[in-house]
Amino acid sequence: MSSNQLIIFDTTLRDGEQSPGAAMTKEEKIRVARQLERLGVDVIEAGFAAASPGDFDAISSIANIIKDSTICSLARANEKDIARAGEAIRHANRGRVHTFIATSPIHMQHKLRMSEDQVVEQAVKAIGWARQYTDDVEFSAEDAARSDMDFLVRIFDAVIQAGVKTINVPDTVGYMIPEVWGARFKDLLERVPNSDKVIWSTHCHNDLGMAVANSLAAVQNGARQVECTINGLGERAGNASLEEIVMATRVRKDLFDVTTNIRSEEIVPTSRLVSTITGYVVQPNKAIVGANAFAHESGIHQDGVLKHRETYEIMRAEDVGWKTNKLTLGKLSGRAAFRARLDEIGIAIESDEHLNELFRRFKDLADRKAEIFDEDLHALASGQDTLTAKYQLKELEVTSKTGQTPRAHLLLSVDGKEAAAAENGSGPVDAVFKAIEVIAKSKATLELYQVNAITSGTDSQGEVLVRLNKDGRIVTGQGADTDIVIASAKAYLSALNWLGTEAKTNPQKDEATAI
Ligand code: KIV
Ligand code: ZN
Repeated sequence: MSSNQLIIFDTTLRDGEQSPGAAMTKEEKIRVARQLERLGVDVIEAGFAAASPGDFDAISSIANIIKDSTICSLARANEKDIARAGEAIRHANRGRVHTFIATSPIHMQHKLRMSEDQVVEQAVKAIGWARQYTDDVEFSAEDAARSDMDFLVRIFDAVIQAGVKTINVPDTVGYMIPEVWGARFKDLLERVPNSDKVIWSTHCHNDLGMAVANSLAAVQNGARQVECTINGLGERAGNASLEEIVMATRVRKDLFDVTTNIRSEEIVPTSRLVSTITGYVVQPNKAIVGANAFAHESGIHQDGVLKHRETYEIMRAEDVGWKTNKLTLGKLSGRAAFRARLDEIGIAIESDEHLNELFRRFKDLADRKAEIFDEDLHALASGQDTLTAKYQLKELEVTSKTGQTPRAHLLLSVDGKEAAAAENGSGPVDAVFKAIEVIAKSKATLELYQVNAITSGTDSQGEVLVRLNKDGRIVTGQGADTDIVIASAKAYLSALNWLGTEAKTNPQKDEATAI
């Protein structure tokens, strides 16, 4: 099955969502999935269906909507998980079940409490269960990087005989370095019987900062699927970043004999969408999608670039989607234009009531901000559904004057009933958060407070991120407004609303022994 097509498997919606506080609503996941399809991703891992009814619902909705990309659900190697995954992808044009079991001595002994024989038997059974739902079954040997090579050869041989189509070899804990990882792929492809009958996949975590380098080493040694995420989102130090892998294979095509289906000019819009929705801000010096990735500060560089672009640039900003920040709508735009633009950028309208609410928010914003960009529209649509959220902001008045203590007067709707509070604070935001806590009494700890400008200009919307920790559960709330104090209140309320939702099962950690 050797070919020069490199399959891009995006797991932003599954492994990416396992990052603390990166949980997305169903509507947000659909928006990301639509953008991933537009980007040209081959396989979208849309979630872990057994995590919760909400996750199942999001995956099956994505499976119904997305036509061009394969839709995949993760499942532990047990019959119940696999049935949920199989059901969730049932209506996909192309659906995949991705099942996994740990293969390293440390995981088998301490997490699974299973012998090698039991693990092989369970993996083979899992492939059989998954094949009842789809022919497109992927198997992952969790913690393959720390697994014994002879055992990997044995289990991969067994799952190939059981009918698997893709074998994924994960560096679950980000332990590898490129030379060793590349050699591991070379060995596996040589030693596993019938290795040419399956696609080999690499899945690398970034704990030592080498996820992309390791993935590329795997590609140079025969991997033809890379599992990655937008902006490198993922647990701990994250996963391999899609944009870096794609652009590395493209810019250095002299070294990589592969092609991908990625439309590179969609990279930056996708990065921005994922960052806006998850609240994980992209560092300015991040390759490809960081704000400074194509900026030249030094006079010498600027001069060189102006004279001849290639002196200091190896790719063009516009090829990865920079400068596509289109002015889309303004104060005079009507409902039809508004609706059409939402449709074009993948914001789904669920009902007339939903459209009315978004249009009302748009008009309100357009009164305060002359130019409305796609990023503004995404911010408008993000967060929980404010029509049904438990905590909603009704009114806020904040006084702040040199030499005086700031004070916030707040009116909220809590489960449809009005509640008011007034508090002093060390600053206006502190006063607002204290007033909210008087009403909500969440006792959560504020772990992060961050303000970003959504677009440029002093009339830009401020986007505020609030990360709360309540008994170890971490949630992120977002709020956007041209007034950052109001945005802060919205973000805090949004985080409280997340705390009120069901916590997700982590497929790799929670109930880990219940395979
Ligand atoms: O990192 C990992 O091992 C995973 C598997 C579930 C594929 O995410
Ligand atoms: Zn992973």
